[in-house]
Amino acid sequence: MLVKTVTQYWKKLENENLDMCASFTLFRLLNINGAKFKNKNILDIGFGEGQNLIECKKRGSIIHGIELRKEKIKKIIQLTKANKNNFFQCDLNISFPNIKTKFDLIYSMDTFNYLSESNQNKYFDHCSKILKKNAFFLIHYPQMQLLKNNNKDIFDYSINDSIYKNDYFFEKKNPIIFLKNIQIIKLINKNKNRFKFVSSIFDTNTISKNNSSKLTINRYLLFKKK
Ligand SMILES: C[S@@+](CC[C@H](N)C(=O)[O-])C[C@H]1O[C@@H](n2cnc3c(N)ncnc32)[C@H](O)[C@@H]1O
Repeated sequence: MLVKTVTQYWKKLENENLDMCASFTLFRLLNINGAKFKNKNILDIGFGEGQNLIECKKRGSIIHGIELRKEKIKKIIQLTKANKNNFFQCDLNISFPNIKTKFDLIYSMDTFNYLSESNQNKYFDHCSKILKKNAFFLIHYPQMQLLKNNNKDIFDYSINDSIYKNDYFFEKKNPIIFLKNIQIIKLINKNKNRFKFVSSIFDTNTISKNNSSKLTINRYLLFKKK
């Protein structure tokens, strides 16, 4: 993956404003595993429109974020009246901000998959240093996209090789990488002395208004800092 391509791709979307709402899967998963929000320091890495930070704020958290796009930082500060010193503009394929705060939760939704492999390793190193003991650490990424071979029977929802074929339908110019299990397993094993693996779950979505043949499967990986 070309690091420059990622930066250019997102910079072009600097002024894009998506209509988003918080991820119930994220909050359920955290809740089931005992995460608390009130008065907790929370960091969202690659927060985009900031919908999950807004939900954290509603739950009483002290919110922090890292983003490549300046406009998104302006937007979240304006919307939440959060402390501007809690937000860091930076390209994680180049560097990680120098953050002094210790966090109770760091999560990242659909952003880790825009980092090169070496920067994914560095990401774990940096996050490990700013997490409190027993704090939660979560990454989420689209694991795969599938296209139904035959879309006639909309009630045939079993997901198997005969019904779906591998396909990617993010636009071609989107530099997303689909992380291979082997790469993630390597990362988990490499970090097992500092991160306890807690849970791996999925959610799915069909991205089109009237065509349910396109299916995205997203993985959530939850860890606890040792
Ligand atoms: C697919 S969006 C996800 C936004 C949000 N987390 C959500 O789930 O709606 C990816 C976000 O990561 C940011 N991003 C992508 N590459 C980045 C990088 N190298 N460094 C920092 N932020 C990055 C983008 O600006 C964008 O807001």
